[in-house]
Order: sequence, then C-alpha cells, then structure tokens
Amino acid sequence: MNLDLIDLNFDYEIFYSGRQAFKYILDEIHLKNDIEKIWMPEYYCQNAMNDWIKHNYNNIYFYKTKPFKFDKAIDISAFASKKDVVLLNNYWGLCSTIDKTKNAPIIIEDHSHGWLSDRCLNSQAGYCFASLRKSLPIPLGGICWKPKTKLTVDTENFIEDNSFYNAWNIAYKAMCEKKLYKEYDKASNKQNYLAGVNTVELFLDQHHKIIKVKESDKAYIKKYLNYNVLEIKKNNLKFLYDSLININFIKIIRRKNYTAFGLILLFKDEKQCNSLKTHLIQNEIYPSFLWPNNELSSKWKFSINIHVDFRYTIDDMIYIKNNINNWITANKTK
Ligand SMILES: Cc1ncc(COP(=O)(O)O)c(C=O)c1O
Repeated sequence: MNLDLIDLNFDYEIFYSGRQAFKYILDEIHLKNDIEKIWMPEYYCQNAMNDWIKHNYNNIYFYKTKPFKFDKAIDISAFASKKDVVLLNNYWGLCSTIDKTKNAPIIIEDHSHGWLSDRCLNSQAGYCFASLRKSLPIPLGGICWKPKTKLTVDTENFIEDNSFYNAWNIAYKAMCEKKLYKEYDKASNKQNYLAGVNTVELFLDQHHKIIKVKESDKAYIKKYLNYNVLEIKKNNLKFLYDSLININFIKIIRRKNYTAFGLILLFKDEKQCNSLKTHLIQNEIYPSFLWPNNELSSKWKFSINIHVDFRYTIDDMIYIKNNINNWITANKTK
C-alpha cells in the first residue's frame, strides 16, 4: 500500500479477531476483580459481539445509546457502578473521548470503526480493542491494548487450533477471489468469494476460545498495522460531502474534524433507504449495513454505509457521487 506510516504509541497484542481481543480483556479483568455486570451497548454488532460474548459470560447487560449523535458523552454513572465493566463503542470513529470520573467502572473501548482516530490513539479507557479486518487488507485480525500502560500478555495459555488456522486460509482465499472478481468481473470469483466469507463468518460465530496466533499470520497483520488508512478516507469523504446534493430526507453522518468510517447516510423512511440501497447495488456499489437486527427509538434510524477507504480513488468517488445524485434527483419530488 502506498500510504504514510503512523506511530502507534501503545503496546499491543494481536489476536485473530476483535471478539477474541475483547474476551481476552474481560478474562484479564476477571482475574484481578470481581465483576458484577458487564455493560454492552444495545446498538451494536449483534451476532459477532453481543451473542458471542454471552457464551463466555452470563452477566451481560445492555444500555441504550444514540449511535448517530455525538454532542453529549454517554452518562455511564446513570447505569453502571464501580464494580462493573462498561464497553463503549466508538461509533463510526466519531465519538469523543470519555471523561473518566473517580468512581468510574472499568471502561473498555471498541475502536473497530475508528481505527487510528484521535480517540483510538489517545484513549482514556482502561482497555481498548479493535477488529482490524474492517480497516486493513487482512483476512482476520484483532488487537488489544491498555492505553498509557505496558501490556504483557501471556500467550502461552492460548490454544492452538488447526480448524482456526484453516479459517484464516479460507478467509485469505476469499480475499484473493474478491480481488479477481474486481479485476475480471467473473461470476465464479464472486461465488467463491461469498462462499468463503460466509463459511468464515459462521465459523467465527461458533468458536468461543482465544486462539494462539501463528507467527506467520501475526507477521502478515503487523505488516499493515502502521499504515495511515485515515488520510485517503478523509479526502474521499471531503469530495463526497462537497458534491452530494443536499436534501432534507437524507442525513449524512459526519462530524467536524473527525474522519468517519465511511459515507454513512441516514433515513427516516425505510422504503427510501431500501430504494437507494437497491439503486446502488444495481450499479455495483455495495453498501454495508451497520448493523442489521438493531432497534432504535429515534426517527432517523435507517442507515447505509458506503466504503471510501484506500481501495478507492477519486474516480470511484465521482462514480458514487453521480449514482447517489441521480437517485436523489429522481426521488426528490416523489
Ligand atoms: C464494532 C465491532 N466490533 C467488533 C466486531 C467483531 O470483530 P471480529 O469479527 O474481528 O471478531 C464487529 C463485527 O465483526 C464490529 O462491528
């Protein structure tokens, strides 16, 4: 990748997934503390995180969040006590750093969507983790760190598991098939890629142990860790923010001086949201959904996310902009 390098100012440990990094942190806290409740955000990645962690811990509770509002920090004291652990998600890389009060519970932050954001690099939390495959060109990967503190992880206790090492290989092959599909547009590449991804997602959901990362896989992940993946996103997003038609039935989720995970568009009307989704897919722009199976009480709650990372050039942004603006023009008087 032709990107600048950034200094990671913390000690870290590499895992195969974000959820394993999270489990490691909880196990670590558990060794030294009596945890009463583990608080997870209600609006979150349901399968991969909320359901998955329930296999390991039975004291999981949920708190309400406003994932598309960033004006107020979440009031942790309203639901958690000092003996609890609270997981805060850095929604789309747009959340502010928490103000830690004296009696605060142990705070863990998830920076999967805010990798390299200021809050990620200068966190005040007790522990942080991220799923790295959301931001880096790697088959699988997670990272955990303890802000401003040395991290010593005894990886000897992690188990070796050939089925997991095989899942890495399947995910790696799926990545290669996706690349071929992009280059040659062959349906067989697309099928292989989707089959590989589905197999691995299911596998990850069903395995609840921490697996020792093979040295070769660790080296693969580390090769990309220091790349500044935010700069290109910032430029691509600026182009889109400046050139998309401003319309009152779509909110663009953005925050001044922050770089969002992607182009996040929010709707009140589910039909309109689905109509834009369909239009984009018909034009081979594949948005992601963060996340299905979540309920929000706010009026603005239907969202799509369009990737704008280092894989995409300004020409791709022009293509995306034209497609969204065409859809807006066709739909604004309806
Ligand atoms: C915000 C967030 N954190 C963590 C995870 C879990 O990451 P992984 O799939 O690497 O375990 C996900 C989804 O996969 C996620 O969306």
